[in-house]
Amino acid sequence: MAEIRDLPTHVGIIMDGNGRWAQKRGLPRKMGHRAGASAFKDIARYANKIGLKYLTAYVFSTENWKRPQDEIDSIIKLLRSYLDEMDGYSKENIRVRFIGDRTVFDEDIQAKMRKAEEKSKNATGLTLILAINYGGRAEIAHAASLLAADVKAGKVEPEKVDEALFAHYLYTDGIPDVDLLIRPSGEYRLSNFLIWQCAYAEYVFMSGVLWPDFKPETLEEALAEYQKRSRRFGGLA
Ligand code: FPP
Repeated sequence: MAEIRDLPTHVGIIMDGNGRWAQKRGLPRKMGHRAGASAFKDIARYANKIGLKYLTAYVFSTENWKRPQDEIDSIIKLLRSYLDEMDGYSKENIRVRFIGDRTVFDEDIQAKMRKAEEKSKNATGLTLILAINYGGRAEIAHAASLLAADVKAGKVEPEKVDEALFAHYLYTDGIPDVDLLIRPSGEYRLSNFLIWQCAYAEYVFMSGVLWPDFKPETLEEALAEYQKRSRRFGGLA
């Protein structure tokens, strides 16, 4: 493997195209999600291996509840069994975090999430972040509500509110902004994913690949594209 220079610190991935992958093979959509979960596990391990510090994946959005119940059930089932496997991540020095409103899930799922986070909290390799029942606008509204409560309680002065202070109220508190956002499958939108954190991200849309076919080499291609970009953050080169 060639040395990967100038790695982004934080990569976000929208795992899109599971349904089409299954359809192309005459399989039910849930088989696409199963293949997608498997691709995700390989990418997480690979990201850790190459020294990436943060990887956030969009697993389930606040809008995905509009899907048929059996499809939702199949994704939750995959999540349940994946949460059990996550127990092993601390041994691989991978830290696990979840973002989104988890209170809607059954208590056993919430307990597994807490356990995975607790067990891996001292890992120093990749921080693997799963966005589950996550929406960027909901996250910002939730942050505003927490901040308003602190203002009401006299803990925060309204004049002191700036971007850095506000960011502490987001689910991603302590996690750096996204540097590289990858979306396969030919859709060119953010779909409410990390809308605050992607303010200065580079976007790599990979129309030729559906998520279940996404391989470590595909990630390398996206990283190579990122390395060609000149990031100016509103300043001059
Ligand atoms: C988008 O593809 C994918 C999702 C809404 C779910 C993502 C879920 C997984 C990858 C599986 C679960 C993962 C874990 C780690 C438990 P789509 O279904 O919208 O695809 P389409 O646009 O082709 O229909």
